[in-house]
Amino acid sequence: MNISDIKKQFPIFNNKIKNNDLVYLDSANSAQKPQGVINRVYDFYTKEFSNVGRSVHYLAVTATNLYENTRSSVQKYINAKDRNEIVFTKGATEAMNLIANTFGQKYLNEGDEVLITELEHHSNYVPWHFLRKSKKINIEFAEVNEDGEVTLDSIKKKITNKTKIIGITHLSNVTGAILPIKEIIGLAHSKGIPVLIDGCQSAPHLKLDMQDLDCDFYAISGHKMYGPTGVGILYAKKKWLEDLPPYQGGGGMIKEVKKQAISYADLPNKYEAGTMATAQVIAFNESIKFLEKIGIENIQNYEKELINYTVDTLKKNNSVKLIANPKNRGGVISFTMEGVHPHDIATILDEDGVAIRAGHHCCQILHEKLGIPATARVSIGIYNTKEDIDQLNSSINKCNKIFDLK
Ligand code: ALA
Repeated sequence: MNISDIKKQFPIFNNKIKNNDLVYLDSANSAQKPQGVINRVYDFYTKEFSNVGRSVHYLAVTATNLYENTRSSVQKYINAKDRNEIVFTKGATEAMNLIANTFGQKYLNEGDEVLITELEHHSNYVPWHFLRKSKKINIEFAEVNEDGEVTLDSIKKKITNKTKIIGITHLSNVTGAILPIKEIIGLAHSKGIPVLIDGCQSAPHLKLDMQDLDCDFYAISGHKMYGPTGVGILYAKKKWLEDLPPYQGGGGMIKEVKKQAISYADLPNKYEAGTMATAQVIAFNESIKFLEKIGIENIQNYEKELINYTVDTLKKNNSVKLIANPKNRGGVISFTMEGVHPHDIATILDEDGVAIRAGHHCCQILHEKLGIPATARVSIGIYNTKEDIDQLNSSINKCNKIFDLK
């Protein structure tokens, strides 16, 4: 695997940022796009555009086939049992809202508990909060430990006979911790509790196998997988998609509409109302091909080495305080510097073309627990190199000088 060849596929790196080469360390927020994905959006609109699943003309049939091809690719990529278990959404956020809304409607009542963790980003908390308001359910939080992890034990402690569903992240977008989700799913199922996994950060970096994990729901963000914005995936076991009510009403999701009654389309159309993000879904197939061509094992091995290098480099820098130290860690590393606000760190780094994110990263609950309003966050993608990390470190040192820190 040659990273420089892989990086060449991303045209963004041909641009200068404030006269510097771009060092992009914000892939947890959104990843850059390879040329193949960009071309596919252009080609679809230029040569093949039509709406899908409605008309019978050549363009409509071609577009429908292309759209459905992506579904088959995703099914294969995440090893789902059935292609109808793949639902396209506008993002992982919509996927999680879909489950909270439909599961909540059918199965949650006053006093029931939804168990999430203190690591969850807002997309796996706020949708449950709506149910707290409308249905008077309770939300319980499994605690994060001082290494930034949520253990099987901390989940176990919070399960009660009122727990109706568990929602957990696979990989924290702040601490980088990879959670023992297979064990958590096993524990939950032994008590008859379904599990929703927030896979936003894991899907671009870890091998996914829905049948092996046996989770009930898994939410994926397309744009973090080097794909276009506007496309997400909800994986859900077929029994749930058949059982739960529809999420949105409109064209495409119905079978028959009468004045007194409406029946719904078969899976997966029951959950894909209205005109979908057709070009994005079709182009997302190129992201899957891109990842498959490199191979997820190769990605994992390469990124592991880079993560270790990043952690070691930042640990050696005395002005940096890492905010977590998980044993099983993905490519997300958050830190603070005494006397410098994270936004100032990010602004100074940006002068050198180093793009990181600063703030609460849509995780205010976790930052409240940490007792800090914000952190600076480095997150890596397949195009990053050790040279990027060296540049990051030297820009941090520049920041040191500006703030005159020791
Ligand atoms: N996009 C968000 C992040 O940066 C959630 O982690």
